[in-house]
Amino acid sequence: MKRSPYLHDFGVSERHVVLIDHPLRLNGAAMLFSNRSLIEHHRWEPEQGTYLRLLDRQSGRWTTYETDTCFCFHSVNCFDDGEDVVFDFLAYDDASVIAALGTEALASGQYPGLTPRYLRARLRPGGGRVALEPLSSQGFEFPAIAYRQQHGQPYSVVWGASFAATSWQSQLVRVEGERVRHFEEEHMIFGEPIFVPRPHGDSPTDGVILSVGCHQNEPLSSLVILEAEQMVPIAHCELELCLPLGFHGNFQAR
Ligand SMILES: [Fe+2]
Repeated sequence: MKRSPYLHDFGVSERHVVLIDHPLRLNGAAMLFSNRSLIEHHRWEPEQGTYLRLLDRQSGRWTTYETDTCFCFHSVNCFDDGEDVVFDFLAYDDASVIAALGTEALASGQYPGLTPRYLRARLRPGGGRVALEPLSSQGFEFPAIAYRQQHGQPYSVVWGASFAATSWQSQLVRVEGERVRHFEEEHMIFGEPIFVPRPHGDSPTDGVILSVGCHQNEPLSSLVILEAEQMVPIAHCELELCLPLGFHGNFQAR
């Protein structure tokens, strides 16, 4: 590539890697004598096209697919399906979300609104044009799946956090097509949910969701533990301090 796209995430299946070559591209030479941030050296150039680049991990061969103009932070899952590769991701119509997450916009009191579309691309052998199929009308960010058991495999359930453009309060969502379950608490901003499977659970999605939330006005934070299927709280761990929204989370069993 002459101009690298802004690359936040990518898809990996057993046999393939999928890169999102969306048209927010880096002008690297301009960084040489600049004191501006990395992101300010990217330009939105939709006329340059939007592509998915498929790498065969064994042969090292690349196949290119052209698709609709979009901008993506996060992939959801990626799996091989016979000769096809299925790539699911969250897409915005353009890259304006980056400015909306900038300090200037946030300091002026605007809410960014993080409700990208949940889309599927089916990459068939040979490349060409690929249509994007919506998997749900629920928009959300920070996707989490039952990673240990379903990453790289067919799956149907994803969790996420949804931020409307009208408030900082967020909703945690469990999305299975149009079957959506929500959890929210007044004044609380919850970030990325993390799925922790139940040891020897009944199904791959049997377990709990962990998410850290921050109160909008008070110095209070809370780790909420939800039953992952019903999205009902089992416990809270409350802290009398601010843990600002940090977007991503991790869980490590000890
Ligand atoms: Fe991220």
